[in-house]
Amino acid sequence: MNRKNLLDQLAKDHTLPFDGFVELLAHPDEGLQAHAASLAVETTQQYYGNKVFSRGLIEFTNICQNNCYYCGIRAGNENVQRYRLTDEQILQCAATGYQLGFRTFVLQGGEDPYYTDDKICRLVQQLKHNHPDCAITLSIGEKSRESYERFRQAGAERYLLRHETATPAHYHRLHPPSLSAENRYACLHTLKELGFQTGAGFMVGSPGQTPEDLARDLLFLHKLQPEMVGIGPFIPAAGTPFAQEPAGTLNETLFLLSLIRLLLPDVLLPATTALGTIDPRGREKGILAGANVVMPNLSPKSVRKKYQLYDNKICTGEEAAECIVCLTKRIESVGRELAVDRGDNVRYVKMKEDHYCV
Ligand code: 5AD
Ligand code: FES
Repeated sequence: MNRKNLLDQLAKDHTLPFDGFVELLAHPDEGLQAHAASLAVETTQQYYGNKVFSRGLIEFTNICQNNCYYCGIRAGNENVQRYRLTDEQILQCAATGYQLGFRTFVLQGGEDPYYTDDKICRLVQQLKHNHPDCAITLSIGEKSRESYERFRQAGAERYLLRHETATPAHYHRLHPPSLSAENRYACLHTLKELGFQTGAGFMVGSPGQTPEDLARDLLFLHKLQPEMVGIGPFIPAAGTPFAQEPAGTLNETLFLLSLIRLLLPDVLLPATTALGTIDPRGREKGILAGANVVMPNLSPKSVRKKYQLYDNKICTGEEAAECIVCLTKRIESVGRELAVDRGDNVRYVKMKEDHYCV
């Protein structure tokens, strides 16, 4: 089958055999990417219309016990000035975000042992108390089933944990032996079982990644059926073992965004900061390839430069309000509008309506 027909089949069936994905990924060309993007945008509009959703990101700690080889805030990077936001600062970020129109907050941090389950639950409860109409997303790494259960009971409804790569051997190229691919995948399945709206994802162009690895990532996503998928280009970070590796490319990331949209038509798919970092119009181009979420930073300006997962990260000098103005303009420049609501996955909304929950 020719590659254009493979894309049409993907748009219709929402999956392809492994070889079909490899064929697409190993021989991308401009025409193919344009066709994928146009199918992807059409699909996004069918499910979410013109809306692009926003999530307010609060990077509350850059302290991490892990040593992922790609990550700028890995434990072994001694050049990082470490910080933790106080509870008051976190609640203040959310209050400011609320005034700016955000109805969903993402608490993201390194795997910082200071934040016990009790502390996280208290924070989630306080956020829910202050902003009952908001969704709380956690992105704090691998935890036990019991911890995830407690977070869910405290009121967290969403959890982001990128699987990073669905190929165990590639996982072990990117992480030290203390981290296991199996545990990563098990965490994601647990999150789904506990009823979290779950986000998986991976970096595009990470060292050693092959088209076969990416095909396995897509099949992994198909099997997991996450409500959200975060992808962005790998970007080298100073002070890491991968500091000299080449970055992933804009075009390959855009192509994967389109493929993921066709694979999971109702998925919430961010145009990530990493995409905006490798190209000045990367996020706009992401939206034109099938993304429908942006995640502006609500962290205090004083700490932003310290949360450098990779070099040259954008938006580290801006206030939250400035980012929202900037993003609104960017989204409007591609004919879309920024939505001010929780931006639930449509599958989840339907489920809630069916069950008469609030
Ligand atoms: N380049 C791009 N993305 C990165 N991440 C971590 N380090 C980098 C990097 N150097 C991504 C990982 C992680 C997410 C929070 O950020 O995929 O899951
Ligand atoms: Fe932050 Fe543009 S989104 S300055």
